[in-house]
Amino acid sequence: MSEVGRLARYLLIPRVAAPVLTLVALRADPPAVALLLGALSGLNLLALRFWTRLPHGRLHLLLDQVLALGVLGVVGSGTPMVLYLMASGVLAGLTYRARPVLVAGILTSLTYGGFLMLRAGYVPGEIDLHTTITLPALLLGAGPAGVAVRRLLVRQERTATQLWKLRRTHAVREERLRVARDLHDSLTKDLHGVWLLSRTLRAALERGDQDSVREAAGVIGETAQGLAGQSRMVIRGLRESGPAVGGLVEALHERAAGVSAGHQLAVEIQAHEVDLDDASRNVLLMVASEALHNVVKHARARTVTLTLAARADAVVLEIEDDGVGFAITPGFGPGHYGLLGMRERAARSGGEFAIRSAPGDGTRVRLTLPVRRSPVPARGEAFLHRARVSRA
Ligand SMILES: Nc1ncnc2c1ncn2[C@@H]1O[C@H](COP(=O)(O)OP(=O)(O)O)[C@@H](O)[C@H]1O
Ligand SMILES: [Mg+2]
Repeated sequence: MSEVGRLARYLLIPRVAAPVLTLVALRADPPAVALLLGALSGLNLLALRFWTRLPHGRLHLLLDQVLALGVLGVVGSGTPMVLYLMASGVLAGLTYRARPVLVAGILTSLTYGGFLMLRAGYVPGEIDLHTTITLPALLLGAGPAGVAVRRLLVRQERTATQLWKLRRTHAVREERLRVARDLHDSLTKDLHGVWLLSRTLRAALERGDQDSVREAAGVIGETAQGLAGQSRMVIRGLRESGPAVGGLVEALHERAAGVSAGHQLAVEIQAHEVDLDDASRNVLLMVASEALHNVVKHARARTVTLTLAARADAVVLEIEDDGVGFAITPGFGPGHYGLLGMRERAARSGGEFAIRSAPGDGTRVRLTLPVRRSPVPARGEAFLHRARVSRA
């Protein structure tokens, strides 16, 4: 049911109550009017129950208004039936167009005024301000108030629908960005690795170095296998929701070894095993991979240090190299999506991404991710892992 429909239903409540109150006030006298009041209350009770099934035009509202006015003529303007008429006015405003509602409001307040002059039924006081001014003004204003509320609610519902559509578009865009990031950080990067390895392979072939040929061919095969798996995951869009396999530290070692394979780069890893949810774990691995890949691709570094430290409320990943560094620009340059992707991943996980670099002074990227769970030691006292992957 729409908001307008819900409000209209609420207005039936005073329309059920007012005739009953009038009935009580008049002590069910005269019996014919009492019967009419009972019928009015009963009809509204039925309307309350079956509101959604009532015909859309709701012509009965008009008939009912005429009937209620007739009753008012007998029982008098000082009875709760005025409340009934007011609720009818707002209800009409919620249901009909503005002009007929205004006309009905004028007729209702005129009729009310007529009854007041005839002093029909129960009329309080002599010239009572409320009876002579407030009530007819409210009867006149009830309809337009209903119209205004209806328009407001309709506009609000329309805005809510638009907002929902916008949110959906935004979600689709987010998803596309996510897939783009995944493609960039996994497939394109590893494809670049395959290209580099193919060069190594050719050089080894030219040298007639059978061992290097075998090693390079093996790494190409493994990378291609990994790529096939990654592309399946990206296509399914399951990368961030798939279950994690193995420890985070182990996964970081694997990534580091994969990225640095075939390069003159010493990778030092200092990492605490941390109990993380799959999404955070994936963000860490993706950022680590891309940062390490940047070192290999751009830094011309001799050493890179990867640190994963666990704090009470966050994990901090740092990748620092001693390479050539670069001058950081606000958007990281057009056509470059690696650093941008890191920042987006951090923001989406409620974390922070920071980069520090200067020409000739190396580069350090830092990702801080909030965590809810406390860090757990990997194996007893072996809390700190140290590894050295060196291919000199
Ligand atoms: N560790 C690094 N050392 C030196 N330069 C870097 C490093 N990381 C990033 N850069 C510079 O920042 C640029 C943007 O990096 P990134 O956004 O990852 O895009 P891409 O790697 O595709 O060029 C790189 O082109 C490079 O000039
Ligand atoms: Mg990059």
